[in-house]
Amino acid sequence: TVDVDATDTGPTIDDNMYGVFYEDINRAADGGLYAELVQNRSFEYDPADNAAYTGMTAWAPTAPDGARGTAAVVDDAGRLNERNRRYLRLNLPAGGGGYGVINAGYNSGIRVERQRDYDFSVWARTDATAGTPLTVRITDPAGTALATPLRITLRGDGWTKYTGRFRATGSSTTGRLAVTGAGGGSVGLDMVSLFPRDTFKGRPNGMRRDLAEKIAALRPGFLRFPGGCLVNTGSHYGYTAPNWERQRSYQWKDTVGPVEERATNANFWGYNQSYGIGYYEYFQFAEDIGAMALPVVPAMVTGCGQNRATDDPELLRRHIQDTLDLIEFANGPASSQWGSLRARMGHPEPFGLTHLGVGNEENLPDAFFERFRQFRTAIEAAHPEITVVSNSGPDDAGGTFDRLWELNRAAGVEMVDEHYYNSPEWFLQNNERYDAYDRAGPKVFLGEYASQDNRFYNALTEAAYMTGLERNADIVKLASYAPLLANEDYVQWRPDMIWFNNHASWGSASYEVQKLFMTNVGDEVVPSRASGTPTTTVPITGAIGLSTWATSAAYDDVTVTSADGTTLLRDDFSAGASNWTHSSGRGSWSIVDGSYVQSDAAAEDTMVTAGDPGWRDYDLRVTATKRSG
Ligand code: AHR
Repeated sequence: TVDVDATDTGPTIDDNMYGVFYEDINRAADGGLYAELVQNRSFEYDPADNAAYTGMTAWAPTAPDGARGTAAVVDDAGRLNERNRRYLRLNLPAGGGGYGVINAGYNSGIRVERQRDYDFSVWARTDATAGTPLTVRITDPAGTALATPLRITLRGDGWTKYTGRFRATGSSTTGRLAVTGAGGGSVGLDMVSLFPRDTFKGRPNGMRRDLAEKIAALRPGFLRFPGGCLVNTGSHYGYTAPNWERQRSYQWKDTVGPVEERATNANFWGYNQSYGIGYYEYFQFAEDIGAMALPVVPAMVTGCGQNRATDDPELLRRHIQDTLDLIEFANGPASSQWGSLRARMGHPEPFGLTHLGVGNEENLPDAFFERFRQFRTAIEAAHPEITVVSNSGPDDAGGTFDRLWELNRAAGVEMVDEHYYNSPEWFLQNNERYDAYDRAGPKVFLGEYASQDNRFYNALTEAAYMTGLERNADIVKLASYAPLLANEDYVQWRPDMIWFNNHASWGSASYEVQKLFMTNVGDEVVPSRASGTPTTTVPITGAIGLSTWATSAAYDDVTVTSADGTTLLRDDFSAGASNWTHSSGRGSWSIVDGSYVQSDAAAEDTMVTAGDPGWRDYDLRVTATKRSG
């Protein structure tokens, strides 16, 4: 029986409570949301990005006429610019015959659809005084044309951008782009690009339509970007590295301006990242889908388990200034220094930034907070209208999480970003997580969460959990499932909300749950109470996250054994306390004569092994009997 008290009112629910968290993980950007069809278009792939890479990754030499030339990636003074350092040098055979390179795109190739238009562009130079005829073809893998070839004449030894448009005459999911020159001499090629003309909203340098439309269909209240671990990491490699150096932390200024002047970087997730989608494109996309933009900048501490923090005050000062400049880029008048760049890129009006995250999943709480404090002070002094979002580190059963909450609360931080990925059972057992959160403390931004699989059951438990978020909409102000996107052939993390390959995309069951909540946001919570709910005995068996069962106040008679049958948790546990310890600070518990005893029924309990730095999966077998009621 559910009793609804229509005379009472609960918290109001903000329209933008449910949003999306976009991170360039699982090749979400290049080969994904970014509509560019050519892989490694600027020949910048490097073993520093991924040991399997070379400058010619995704490219192969081709000699359609059997002629002999050479194709090599070079890095010399003839480069396109200081950030885009490498280019392809083709030495063409004299006399007849063509020689060039062919690109294999992403997944099985380049997706080409009959009757659709494709925009080709290339930066090129030639030392042939008579110029170089360049032929550009879209073909299938066997070389059969999928469009009428483009013929372009390159002239002069200075870098020039050449463009052309194809109308596809055939369809393929295994297409190739071939660029060949003839007539002798040496040709330089860079930024070899092919875009479908029908990007999302027809924007140049735009988003892939089916993916962008799936995100837009959620009607997300906000767009958190660009990460995740992506934001902080890389900085351990040297904050001061020149702006074309790989493994720099994510710095927004590397990602704006003309695409051919943006560096590429080694992605934390093990691949090359082009910055073709950069801060301008993210802001534009947020505006296009009606979402509040919520960028996250690095705090000069490496989260995600890397445990380093800069001690260079000048460097910290520079990054704080970069963050102030970012706010000017988003909100400043077109006459301001960074506002004028935004205007030149096509958006004279401000983007209306209101929230900004500093740091992601930080696991050096004090080091992070000391630097966060400096960011926050500077931002609030110059822009009191901006909400500066802090974080709670990994949800690590005590330690970092509790310390960061303590620091955030003491400093009166407005909003704290929490992350957790747990079993479906955890989501069912922890529906009441936020009921007891301190209403006088910071608001919660649940920036990342997911039940750990992509089955219907996971989505169902997420939906159940979201009712708990919504019931606490006065304290949980924003929530986003994570990660958002995954290319099925390049997966670093699962589950994910939307899956794709080079020609198709599909939402998971979790996508449908998110859509259900985002497109049906209520105005206010109406208090209700359920009674007469059945008492059941639920045996739990299997390998589960340790924190999953340990956080449960709902179970009794717990036995934990390792996979080989060894009993790990015994009756004398609380007395002997050999290898298990309780460390939550939010409640206490013990096992007495085989029974679970909780001394603070309102609190969430967690438990980790002594000396363990945080949450992780253990191969444990758990059986438990659900407490009656
Ligand atoms: O969403 C995937 C990763 O999970 C994010 O990069 C990080 O913040 C978290 O650990």
